[in-house]
Amino acid sequence: MRISLRLILLLFIGVTLVSLFFARSQVKAQKRGLRADLERRADVLADSLQETIEPMMQNDASKDLQRVLERFGNRERLSGVAIYDLQGKSIAMTLGLTGKLNGVPNTVALAISKNEGCGEFVNLGSTYTHIFALPLHQKGTIAGAMVLLHNADYILAQSDAIWRDAFIRVLVQTLLISLITLLIVRWSVVNPISKTAQWMRELRTRGSHSPLDLPEGELFKPLMREATHLVQSLSAARATAQEEARLREASESLWTSERLRVHVRNTLQTRPMIVVSNREPYMHVHRGNSIEVIVPASGLVTALEPILRACEGTWIAHGSGDADREVVDSRDRLRVPPEEPQYALRRVWLTREEEEGYYYGFANEGLWPLCHIAHTRPTFRSSDWEDYQAANQKFARAVLEEMKDTHDPFLLIQDYHFALLPRLVKKERPDARVAIFWHIPWPNPQAFSICPWQRELLDGLLGADLIGFHIQSHCNYFLETVDQTMESRIDWEHFGVSRLGHMTLVKPFPISVAYSEPATPLPDAFSGDRFALIKELGLEATYLGVGVDRVDYTKGILERLRAVERFLDKYPAYRGKFTFVQIGAPSRTHIKRYHDLQAEVEAEAERINWRFETSRWKPVVFLNKHHSHEEIEPYYRAADVCLVTSLHDGMNLVAKEFVAARNDEQGVLILSQFAGASRELQDALAINPYDTEQLAEAIRFSLEMDSVEKTERMRRMRRIVKEHNVYRWAANLITALSEIRLEPTATGTVAGAGRT
Ligand code: G6P
Repeated sequence: MRISLRLILLLFIGVTLVSLFFARSQVKAQKRGLRADLERRADVLADSLQETIEPMMQNDASKDLQRVLERFGNRERLSGVAIYDLQGKSIAMTLGLTGKLNGVPNTVALAISKNEGCGEFVNLGSTYTHIFALPLHQKGTIAGAMVLLHNADYILAQSDAIWRDAFIRVLVQTLLISLITLLIVRWSVVNPISKTAQWMRELRTRGSHSPLDLPEGELFKPLMREATHLVQSLSAARATAQEEARLREASESLWTSERLRVHVRNTLQTRPMIVVSNREPYMHVHRGNSIEVIVPASGLVTALEPILRACEGTWIAHGSGDADREVVDSRDRLRVPPEEPQYALRRVWLTREEEEGYYYGFANEGLWPLCHIAHTRPTFRSSDWEDYQAANQKFARAVLEEMKDTHDPFLLIQDYHFALLPRLVKKERPDARVAIFWHIPWPNPQAFSICPWQRELLDGLLGADLIGFHIQSHCNYFLETVDQTMESRIDWEHFGVSRLGHMTLVKPFPISVAYSEPATPLPDAFSGDRFALIKELGLEATYLGVGVDRVDYTKGILERLRAVERFLDKYPAYRGKFTFVQIGAPSRTHIKRYHDLQAEVEAEAERINWRFETSRWKPVVFLNKHHSHEEIEPYYRAADVCLVTSLHDGMNLVAKEFVAARNDEQGVLILSQFAGASRELQDALAINPYDTEQLAEAIRFSLEMDSVEKTERMRRMRRIVKEHNVYRWAANLITALSEIRLEPTATGTVAGAGRT
């Protein structure tokens, strides 16, 4: 039976039962009321008759009695009155009654025996009748009884009317409810389901699809979510398969997630892959009564996520979300990504104090400014150093736990938070292949030498078999630093350090983004999006510039804003036309320098706006909150120019993300010469962020650049990002690590000994 028919039938039965129940109660109550009313009336009437009749009985005036009865007998609904003596003989009776009564009614005897009025309802022939008998007295003793008969048919008629109304009501209600149910089912269930089915069919058969337009609301939320993930997976799988086929056809050797997966499996065989970073890829945070998942703003997370998805390994990271503990299992693990679990995330817990000293203190007030030459002095405190050592030991314990019962594991350590970790792990597990990738620049040896614990840091790092930097110059600075600080042998031919019988290779691996060709081309009238985006901000502008950064002093955000101001000073024609949107994720705000910077950027944006803004236009919009990739993407796609003005940066993935997003081959990238990305993206407009005039000129140049030139530049940059994508980065790193020869040690285990 069809579901709607079943629903209607059930509703019909339900409504009918409820209505009948209430109708029955109503009939009962009604009957009770009417009968009581009739009884009362009979009683009152009998009383008044009694007063007249009793004296007449004494005088034996039966004729008068008859007359009186006839006079009363035509009252409303009164069928008749009769008077009986004690023997039951009729003394007088209204005419209408003659022949109707079969003998003396029972109530007469009852009334006489009880010496009080008694009544009952009976059927007299076809008439429903109320009989009321009242004893009559002569000289104080009972001499007979008076009987009043009322026609009570109207009581039955009223009950029938109630039943009839109830049936009509049931009918109308059921019809209405059925109709409404049918419409609701059709609009809210059948239509969306057939829409979804049609959408899925289109997707399956044609591979293209328009966005699924389903009603909002609880009912369809899970369906929408699942359908969207399904589509994304299907589209991604289809795009990968098409790309693979195209590459095979063109004999190109592009790296894709699928190719990386196969490569990693072939390389690792059954050996596990473990990644360690401080920042976790998914943070669980409380938002009101629910728990939300956010992907933190971090280039490292952007780059590593696709690899973990491809390798199905284990990612160990600091659990820093305030709801993180609520979603892990007893081993502090959970499967991620939440919508499509593919790998394990193991969370390590740090106390407030540990986080303060290790993360905020040593890593971000010490090492970060030490390695970024951005004129912020590093601060080194021995208490921070102690916390840094303790945190590295804590992570080492987690790594060793994850490595337990495995053979020859691969370990990829990420960044400056874990300089000591390679040595700590390698000491316990010489069979592990350990690489550390340093995501930030390595400064020149003189700059690094101000760190009081430089020897310990270098020693920790040299526990690794492989150290990766983004660019060759960082490798060179590292080797020079080791050369000037430690007893060791530098192999300048193969770029390695030999120390205490262990060889560490030092190589550049320029990190990148996933880069995926979209399944469908962008719509032609793309500028529409830009206006919509600017309009959403409550503004009107013709040109859009964009910057996307964590609010960090190394990113040159203030320098960028000042260049925008200079540009508008120099080229007033762009006032009212050019708006620069700075997406700035708050970062490390617990540190005073970062906290102050937020306020400085805010103040600078306000100052510039105050100088130039009109009622409908602003030169600078500062969006100071965390934005997801999906939220940032439209800005990349709509911008005329993207400004990456780092004062010093290991790579800067924003530059590559912008290029990857521009499949319309438009848009200009302005890129700091001090960002690692400038080595590869030579078609960007290279600038020195300290040179305000140059930067202002670059903005003008980008806005006035001929569309053909934009296309040529963007096309070349896109080819580079496409070919040197993050899958290739990971593949190169894993290949290099797998090719390292681990030599047996005296105890029969193995230690790094150089390249195969
Ligand atoms: C840089 C570092 C990453 C770090 C990211 C965000 O990209 O190289 O290791 O995750 O900044 O900083 P945060 O301190 O928030 O993790």
